[in-house]
Amino acid sequence: MKKIILTGDRPTGRLHIGHYVGSLRRRVELQNSGEYDHIYIMIADAQALTDNFEHPEKVRSNILEVALDYLACGLDPEKITIFVQSAVPELTEITFYYMNLVTLSRLQRNPTVKAEIQMRGFETSIPVGFLNYPISQASDITAFKATTVPVGEDQLPMIEQTREIVRKFNSIYGDVLTEPEALVSSNIACQRLPGTDGKAKMSKSLCNCIYLADEADEVQKKVMSMYTDPDHIKVTDPGKLEGNTVFTYLDAFCRDEHFASYLPEYENLDALKAHYQAGGLGDVKVKKFLNRVLEEELAPIRERRKEYEKRIEWVYEVLRKGSEEARREAADTLDGMKAAMKINYFEDSDFLRDWNAR
Ligand code: TRP
Repeated sequence: MKKIILTGDRPTGRLHIGHYVGSLRRRVELQNSGEYDHIYIMIADAQALTDNFEHPEKVRSNILEVALDYLACGLDPEKITIFVQSAVPELTEITFYYMNLVTLSRLQRNPTVKAEIQMRGFETSIPVGFLNYPISQASDITAFKATTVPVGEDQLPMIEQTREIVRKFNSIYGDVLTEPEALVSSNIACQRLPGTDGKAKMSKSLCNCIYLADEADEVQKKVMSMYTDPDHIKVTDPGKLEGNTVFTYLDAFCRDEHFASYLPEYENLDALKAHYQAGGLGDVKVKKFLNRVLEEELAPIRERRKEYEKRIEWVYEVLRKGSEEARREAADTLDGMKAAMKINYFEDSDFLRDWNAR
């Protein structure tokens, strides 16, 4: 069986380092591993509209931002397909058939949807399109016959829902769809990087994100004002690691080589942590180290982003061509589905024959 990846992001803002450690960095590794027959990366604008339908301009203005972030991280359109969801209308048609296979209560039980309904104050009146988005996500995944979906841990309920839809479809209409598997980072810190203020999630509205496009001085400012251990007041005080954002970021970004380059008095992160917990290590020193670690990873991304910004017409063409290619693949899957459902009347020579043989 072919190994195929599909994953994507909602274009509601520039991508930040939470996206990077949670998913983007991994995608680039998967791309370069050569182990996959095809990789599709989707800019999920239609899904973004399910809770931003009153602000299509917000989605519009972030299509190229997200594309630039992808390219800056090292995703390479020579090796993979980058496309825009709404440019593949077959996805909507597939969604329509899947809607028959899912109950309302199953959607309402989806933990991600549940949390989002609460967050957006949709409890009393949930837009149908919003509630339906896990079904649409199942279409995104299955339309490309994806076997593997690299996502953040918050997306696991979506993959589970997709698997259920696939099993149901296949059991009713025959074995046409591929059941995908999620691929989640094994590094806990990477799975959900907290905001710089220590809050559980990076979010644009909380202003607690470090963006891939941030300049070096902005990153430094954000790192130096990061949330640590509020009880670690004097340098000599013992410090706590739990809930200490600076150490969570180090867990996500730092490697032993960074110590040799920037902080040779420690062998590795464990040694640094031990000193912090014992007391005698100040936050400023740890933050300066984190800033250098981040800078090593972010500087090349930032530079590449600027280069691609100068070639924005080329980026636009990448999306257009990618979307055309994605459309062909989704149409092929849809054809197979309709044939299995026996609703492909005009491609089916048996259709009239069955009628005449009545
Ligand atoms: N729901 C994902 C997010 O919010 C975006 C997305 C849409 C996606 N369709 C997808 C991710 C299909 C993986 C596979 O980030």
